This record gives sequence, structure tokens and C-alpha cells, in this order.
Amino acid sequence: MTTFPIEKIRADFPILQEKIRNKPLVYLDNAASCQKPQQVIDSIVHCYTHEYANIHRGVHTLSVKATDRYEGAREKVKDFINAQSTKEIIFVRGATEAINLVAQTYGKANIKAGDEILITAMEHHSNIVPWQMLCEETGAVLKVAPINLQGELIFAEFEALISDKTKLIAVVQMSNALGTVNPVDKMIACAKAKNIPVLLDGAQAIPHMSVDVQALDCDFYVFSGHKLYAPAGIGVLYGKQALLEAMPPYQGGGDMIRKVTFEETEYNTLPYKFEAGTPSIADVIGLGAAIDYLNEIGMDNVAAYEAELLDYATEKARKIKGLRIIGEAAEKGAILSFVLDNIHPHDIGTMLDSLGIAVRAGHHCAMPVMDFFEVPATARASFAMYNTKEEVDVLMQGIKSLIEMFG
Ligand SMILES: Cc1ncc(COP(=O)(O)O)c(C=O)c1O
Repeated sequence: MTTFPIEKIRADFPILQEKIRNKPLVYLDNAASCQKPQQVIDSIVHCYTHEYANIHRGVHTLSVKATDRYEGAREKVKDFINAQSTKEIIFVRGATEAINLVAQTYGKANIKAGDEILITAMEHHSNIVPWQMLCEETGAVLKVAPINLQGELIFAEFEALISDKTKLIAVVQMSNALGTVNPVDKMIACAKAKNIPVLLDGAQAIPHMSVDVQALDCDFYVFSGHKLYAPAGIGVLYGKQALLEAMPPYQGGGDMIRKVTFEETEYNTLPYKFEAGTPSIADVIGLGAAIDYLNEIGMDNVAAYEAELLDYATEKARKIKGLRIIGEAAEKGAILSFVLDNIHPHDIGTMLDSLGIAVRAGHHCAMPVMDFFEVPATARASFAMYNTKEEVDVLMQGIKSLIEMFG
């Protein structure tokens, strides 16, 4: 692709035409959740209008159609992340549920008192708290690899923390609070040298870069649909088949069984063993549509376009006196976290909203990151493939007028 089809992409996202406070919407809160293209919206409408019924076990036409679409979406996810088999693709509610699933099944079966779980200091709460809960239940110990003032992992310290006691490494591929992209290849190589399984939290990475779980050689990979232009309430746990086979189920109920008597239950095969109950059928179909949409554009093209956008925004932000960027890693995804002298991030968020600009202000579910940088919160502009340099200019102008106003 020679030029990125930005006009066409923007036209596909109806919400981008909205006016907020009488101003054109500038939506820069994509790391929290991104907007949906018409193709995804249409796929959900089509499902409920023409092809909806409960899936699996149905013999009637609508159930067969819905099942085909649902399982077709699983195939699309498999190809999108280059998993070996659809048995390795488990539909869950989101990244949070996927991590909790691994903690409560793999974790409880394999981690015991005195064992160690290694994370980094830039994790989202959803990749901290489930491990703390597991540690509390088992007597295992949570170890945290530190970061530097650029917001980068201190690799030597990460390496030094890996010991014979380490039983699992769970790390974020791209930080939501800082934008840092971790050297996960190198990290996984270190873990593999000691036969330690690795879970990658790909919630932020997957909308911004192509992901190949086989090339990465991670054992688990988790992400949420709503950050990938797909509906909320749906996400994916990828796990290597052998690991998933050996894990106990997460929840009990319909669909995850092969045979039930009052005496005992025989569990279903993969991936159904981990999908108890009626899933979010239309949302899975919507995720499939989002993947089709992204494949047409090409994730490498998305990555290149967003890198240029981030460079542009960073350069502009660096020129604003009184603005401090939080997170200046050499390898970054399209996130610009910042604070302004003497203006609380919440005031930044509110003032920018009055100009039609949506940014997020807060701790971004990464309180330890805020503590490390000694700030109560940051304002965060997070970009998607539909954002433009013109929108960056509107943001920067908004920040400048805010600084002037607050003196
Ligand atoms: C890095 C990271 N991990 C995990 C999550 C949790 O995602 P969800 O709330 O969709 O489960 C988020 C959400 O912001 C995130 O940014």
C-alpha cells in the first residue's frame, strides 16, 4: 500500500461524524476502548436480523447458521494471531477474564507455596491483581521487574529475577499507561531457556501491530475485542494446546461438558472445555468482522501509519513548555501520556472535552506506574488508525490554550 486510506477509514466509522459540544469529535481515548466501523456494526445487526439463535447442538437452520458464523470467527482469530489450531482459541469476556482464567486454572494446578510469578512494574491492574490473589491462595510470591525513568523495562533486572523458583512470567506487550513496547522476544527467550511459561498481555499491542503467537513462542496470549474495533464483552485467550489440554476447566456449566451424571462429569474437548454457558454470540461474530476489516488494511500498514502519527504528536508535545511526557521509551506504541505544570489531569480532561477532544485522565488502572513517576494521574491521548495529524494539531492547540488560561 503506497498511501494509507485514511479518508476511507474515517468514513467507515460513523461516530467520528459526531459533534461534541458543538465541535467535531476528536477521539483520542482509544486505549480505553476504540470506535467501531460500520462493517462491524452491520455484522451484529445482520446476526440479530437474519442469523441469530443459540449455537452448538442446534439442528435447526438458524442455529446451524449462527454456529457457522461463530466458529468462522474463531478461525479468523486463529489466522490473525497465527495460532496452530482453533482449539487454542478460547472466547472469553476480555483480557481481564483471560488472565483470571489462567490464574485460576493453570495457576492453581501448577503453582505452589514458595514458587514465584514474575511480572513487570508497568502492568495493568488486570495483570497484577489475579496473580496477587493466586499468591494469597497458594503462598507463592509475586516478583516485579523494575522500569527506568523512560518507562522501559530494566532488562538486566528482569533477567536477574528469573530463578529456579519462577513458575510463570506474565508481562504486558505494550503498556497502556506509558505506550512502552516491551522486548517480548528477548524476554520469552530468557524464559524458554529455563522452561518457564510466558503469558503475554496483548490488550494494547494487538490493535497496533501484527502478532504471531508461534513466532513469539508465548504460551498464553490475551486480548480484548473492544480495543480491536470489535464489540465490548468479547475477548480471546490463546493458549498452547498441550497446556490447555492439561489445565482443569475454569467454570462449570453447559457446553463445557461431554457427559454429565450426578456422580461425575466428563469435560468437553478444546476449546469448548473453557467456554461454559451461552457465549456472546453476536459479539464474537463482530470480532470476526473487525478482523476482516483490519486484514484488508493490513496490520503492518496500521503500525507504520500510527508510528508516524505518534512521532508527530511527540515532537509537538515536546515543544510545549510546562508539558512533561510520561513514558519516553525508545520502542513505543501510539500512546502519549502527559502531565502539565500546575494543572490536574482531570482538569485537562474536562477542559479538552469542552473543545470536543476526548482524552482519558486518571491512573489508567496502573497505579504502581503513577507511584513510580510520582504523579497522581496523567492525561492520556491514545491514537487509533483513524486519527490524523490535523487532530493532533487540535489537541496541541487545546493544550496550549489551557496552559494560557491557567496562567
Ligand atoms: C494493558 C492492558 N491489559 C489489560 C487490560 C484489561 O482489558 P479489559 O478491561 O478489556 O479486560 C487493559 C485495559 O485497558 C490494558 O490496557
